[in-house]
Amino acid sequence: METVCIRNVRAVDSLRDAVCDILIRDGRIAEIGENIAAEIDREIDGTGLIAMPGLFDMHVHFRDPGQTQKEDVYTGSAAALAGGVTGVLCMPNTVPPMDNPEQVRDVLRRANDTGVDVHQAGTLTVGLKGERLADYEALKAAGVTALSDDGRPVPTAELMEAALAKAKEAGLPVVSHCEDLAIINGGIINKGAVSEALGVKGMDRRSEDSVTERDLQLALKTGAQLHICHVSTTGSTEAVRKAKAAGGNVSCETAPHYFMLTDELLLSRDADYRMNPPLRTPEDVAAIKAGILDGTIDCIITDHAPHTAEDKADFEKAPNGVVGLETSLAATLTTFYHTGLLTLQDIVRLMCDNPRRLLHLPARTLSAGAAADLILVDPERRWTVDPEKLHSRSHNTVFKGMTLTGKVLMTMTGGIVRYEADT
Ligand code: DOR
Ligand code: ZN
Ligand code: ZN
Repeated sequence: METVCIRNVRAVDSLRDAVCDILIRDGRIAEIGENIAAEIDREIDGTGLIAMPGLFDMHVHFRDPGQTQKEDVYTGSAAALAGGVTGVLCMPNTVPPMDNPEQVRDVLRRANDTGVDVHQAGTLTVGLKGERLADYEALKAAGVTALSDDGRPVPTAELMEAALAKAKEAGLPVVSHCEDLAIINGGIINKGAVSEALGVKGMDRRSEDSVTERDLQLALKTGAQLHICHVSTTGSTEAVRKAKAAGGNVSCETAPHYFMLTDELLLSRDADYRMNPPLRTPEDVAAIKAGILDGTIDCIITDHAPHTAEDKADFEKAPNGVVGLETSLAATLTTFYHTGLLTLQDIVRLMCDNPRRLLHLPARTLSAGAAADLILVDPERRWTVDPEKLHSRSHNTVFKGMTLTGKVLMTMTGGIVRYEADT
């Protein structure tokens, strides 16, 4: 294995923000400090660049098994590495769903040689049907890191309470997709002026808000660990804020599209802008940003949800979801770092430390002795998102044609360079 030294780089993790050299040997960070002298195979000039621990995205859909025409664990991992993401939690709405230990073991085994720290969520209910609970102890023994029915809500409070109680016993966090299908009633975009202008059925925000409130109450009642998925509204952000103040073992996440974009984009009738929950209003965008700034929102995730161009061809019939792994850091730097709203250490907390902590995984730092899972980023590089250049098997990005500031130049895991940008 090559010995690599990154010189004169701004190293940012939870413990430091300082310009130094980083020496990587035998898969580990051997030394971090000034003017390191050692025998080196490859020197990288880090002047003007940032090194940070690899990001962890705790909400992705790799579609493996069953829908590998959209993505698989290998193409999904390639997309992750290109986005500076070195660890992921895969949602269990695969085909068939991840409700059985054999299938969990199989995907985790195949993920071994991707270079990405791939984790798998097991389902909360058998077959994602929302009828009876899966076998959490068996799923845990097979290696799941969390439980979720993502893609679908758990339909009743009774079943969710039973799921939380049993997950608590198993010591697994519950990751909840909050949606009331009766309220959604076939809606395809945010309910409001845009859905009216287009004459399509809307998704009322009460769908998200009411189930978020229900699940937070149940978390307080049971004492279970609950993580709310893809918060997109003012109301659900406020509900999480209150549940935290009430002492709940609760957390939540949002995605870049919810803090950058609004439902105006749907006026294009382009299904690439459709996801669930949907793009909302400028007021929601402001509330999501405020939730990130005051710590109500713990993590920035992508909900990377690949769908083929064919799937996305019909605006009204297309499935919900957007890819995001290759744009999440750039989008976050553009919105929060280049505007002075967040520091780089804040971003490490939101995109690396908090997800790992919530999933009970060991922390990642750039300290001597740590695993060499790190990324090199040019914070000032402006680039325009070209869907054709993505590593994901699907190209359904909401950021197509947008210019973002900040680019991942290199991703290393286990001391091996897994990704390098072309330019
Ligand atoms: O937009 C979404 N896509 N939301 C979900 O909850 C599921 C996901 C998918 O699996 O495509
Ligand atoms: Zn979801
Ligand atoms: Zn999802």
